[in-house]
Amino acid sequence: MTLILAIETSCDETAAAVIRDGREICANVVATQMESHARFGGVVPEVASRHHVEVMTRVVEEAMEKAKVTFSDLTAIAVTEGPGLVGALLVGIHAAKALAFAHGIPLIGVHHIAGHIYANQLVEPLAYPLLALVVSGGHTELIYMKKDGQFETVGETRDDAVGEAYDKVARALSLPYPGGPNVEKLAKEADTAIKLPRAWLEAGSYDFSFSGLKSAVLNRLHNDRQKGIETDLPALARGFQESVIDVLTVKTARAVQTYEVKQVVLAGGVAANHTLRKALKTALADTGAALSIPPLSLCTDNAAMIGAAAHSMWVHGCTSDMALNGRPGLSL
Ligand code: KG4
Ligand code: ZN
Repeated sequence: MTLILAIETSCDETAAAVIRDGREICANVVATQMESHARFGGVVPEVASRHHVEVMTRVVEEAMEKAKVTFSDLTAIAVTEGPGLVGALLVGIHAAKALAFAHGIPLIGVHHIAGHIYANQLVEPLAYPLLALVVSGGHTELIYMKKDGQFETVGETRDDAVGEAYDKVARALSLPYPGGPNVEKLAKEADTAIKLPRAWLEAGSYDFSFSGLKSAVLNRLHNDRQKGIETDLPALARGFQESVIDVLTVKTARAVQTYEVKQVVLAGGVAANHTLRKALKTALADTGAALSIPPLSLCTDNAAMIGAAAHSMWVHGCTSDMALNGRPGLSL
């Protein structure tokens, strides 16, 4: 049996969770800073770090109380090591190190993206080999896992992450932060879609590119304004979303066949997008691969997913020492 206290502070959520055996959520506390960043139209790193400092202790205490456990019950303390905003990461890392040192408990540094993938383990056991489509504000990656703990990046974005493209397009459409859900909402109001380009890249490539698409949205708005035409904004939002989802689902379905996987897991904040969830389900229907998508609360940043990934690391004997540091560009 393992009981892991996990801490996540890589971006703008201060989160702590207690996870039993990598599968059972005993407590999952998330303090969001969304409102503080909304007026700036995006996450301000320094503001994020200061918020983490303010609420970190309270969030950990709340998680421990909700789980009805004490520090002597814990197997390990896990914390997001990277990637993320370095100042934000350091708050969580220092809290975890202090607690681990004070209570004599092993420390585990966890990769944030591994966390997003293992969020699915909190719903059902992962079936290997699998393919993870990780779509968040900072990442767009197709990751092949032959077995537990093994990660191979099959494809990744060459420029903007999907969530980043959503957030930038939202800003161009004067939608409030966070952009993703608002673009999705606006797209649902559309009767038609404005057709936009799709970046397929070289034949056989599993890489992605979204900056050209984002520019196409900006150009359309600019050209319409110059011509005195009122842009059909819902149709533009829908066109953007269709282009994004088309490329994501077609490439994932193709990779499923090449890598002969048993399961596809959708991970990261953009996995909260209903249109993407539905389209991926349809695209994989004939492939024989099962699709696993976490509930909305486990798609966006949380510490439960870090605890789930940490359990797998613990089983493989991977722990960290007191030199653990924030690694903003950490690769899987
Ligand atoms: O994983 P996450 O919470 O934080 C990062 O690690 O980046 O992902 C946040 C991203 C943001 O860019 C947000 O706009 C996007 O996920 N997002 C969505 C939706 N909900 C959140 N994008 C599209 N549709 C959504 N419904
Ligand atoms: Zn994330």
